[in-house]
Amino acid sequence: MSLSVIVLAAGQGVRMKSDLPKVMHPLAGRPMVRYVVDTARALQPTCLTVIVGHGADLVRQAVGDGVTYAVQAERLGTGHAVQQAAEVAAGRAGTVLVLFGDTPLVRPETLRQAIAHHEAQGAAVTMLSFRPGDPTGYGRIVRDEAGERVVAIVEERDATPEQRAIGEVSSGMYCFRDGWLWPNLARLAADPAFRAKHAEIYLTDLVAMARQQGEAVLAVPIADALEAIGLDQRAKLAQGEAEMRRRINKRWMLAGVTMVDPAMTYVEAGVEIGADTTLWPNTLLQGQTRVGRGCTIGPGTIVRDSTIGDGCRAELSVIEQAIMDEGSEIGPYGHLRKGAHLGPGVHMGNFGEVKNSYLGPGVKMGHFSYLGDATVGAEANIGAGTITCNYDGKHKHPTVVGAGAFIGSDTMLVAPVTVGDGAKTGAGAVVTHDVPADTVVYGVPARVHPPQQEGKGDPLWSPSPEPPAEAQEDK
Ligand code: UD1
Repeated sequence: MSLSVIVLAAGQGVRMKSDLPKVMHPLAGRPMVRYVVDTARALQPTCLTVIVGHGADLVRQAVGDGVTYAVQAERLGTGHAVQQAAEVAAGRAGTVLVLFGDTPLVRPETLRQAIAHHEAQGAAVTMLSFRPGDPTGYGRIVRDEAGERVVAIVEERDATPEQRAIGEVSSGMYCFRDGWLWPNLARLAADPAFRAKHAEIYLTDLVAMARQQGEAVLAVPIADALEAIGLDQRAKLAQGEAEMRRRINKRWMLAGVTMVDPAMTYVEAGVEIGADTTLWPNTLLQGQTRVGRGCTIGPGTIVRDSTIGDGCRAELSVIEQAIMDEGSEIGPYGHLRKGAHLGPGVHMGNFGEVKNSYLGPGVKMGHFSYLGDATVGAEANIGAGTITCNYDGKHKHPTVVGAGAFIGSDTMLVAPVTVGDGAKTGAGAVVTHDVPADTVVYGVPARVHPPQQEGKGDPLWSPSPEPPAEAQEDK
């Protein structure tokens, strides 16, 4: 039978105590409503509607195209929320599945089974039930004496002490027969007499209505209670995060990734990892990150929105919006910032920082250096403590270091400046002018070695030093 899915995502989520709409809270780096929509898509519905209200623009942005949106301007209950989809969804499919935007752990297989049972039994309403450790707060499911059909769902506030003791509760997810749902939802909305002691329009009240009409109401238990939990407060959010992370890690381990301690390895939903890569504890792979094959990442490493090639190593380092080509390595304690690109086989050792720079193949930058807005040629050596002074307080300036250049320890490269191929700078040099290829410079400010005669050679490198360039800082 054809399927229509409605995802309720209009609520604020007061129990979250947050400015962010509840369904926008991330799980493994992705707003929880995205998981629900992805699960709905996996069922290949003919019609997929998302009900938005609180923070509608944010939710629309997160979910994107390919779904129909309906707006619930006022939050008047779950039944009212579904009613907002009537115009776009009614009559579009045989079965209507209602999902909650705050219940992201439900699996497509679980929903498929419930839908199959609902359709095979010809029920008007089939709810997905579960047994949480503590049923407080959930709608309790009252079954008939045979235990097969559902008599009522009783919300916490309306429940008697005996009903509160019932362990089976409603997950809030339902299958409805399309032809039955829409006219009866309209009746429920129009006639407060159908509503049990409350002003809101609850989906749950459709159960009593179907019963009165002699229609079959079923409950299909979800075996894994975790799939049914609504992440409506922070403690449950943490539970959901742990479960989602466990699922993601399991998937990557099955794909050939070693996690030395999966419980301490944090891989977000959008990440990809090649086989034979090892992740050590306290490693976070976030956003749009790709890690190649045979890498060793961590311990204690954050990789965010970055691409790491095959056979790379990163230890105790932070890598953000950066690229590491195959065989390059960083750490301990390195930081690649936006636009950093380490070419093949680059070695970046202790306490280095690179921003918006390309380091060519085989470059070595062993210790305590900062390169910003720089281009470094192949096989150059960046000595300990080298700094590109790329910022004059107003503008950023580029630095170019040629292939095979040797930058002595503690060199300040005052940008804009170019050091030619094969050139060398002495330890502590402050380079304020371009250095020709295969030339040695030293001192403060740096001048050519051996010193040239005054008035001869390159005037830029006259031995009588010009006043030192205004000190520039690194940024
Ligand atoms: C609901 C069920 C309860 C079930 C529980 C499971 C009802 C009346 N109660 O209670 O039986 O045990 O879920 O978690 O259905 N929403 C809207 N518009 C509204 C109201 C809600 O879009 O006007 C959305 C919320 O964003 C949320 C979902 O519906 O995603 C659930 O609403 P919520 O108010 O949290 O229901 P519960 O009180 O948890």
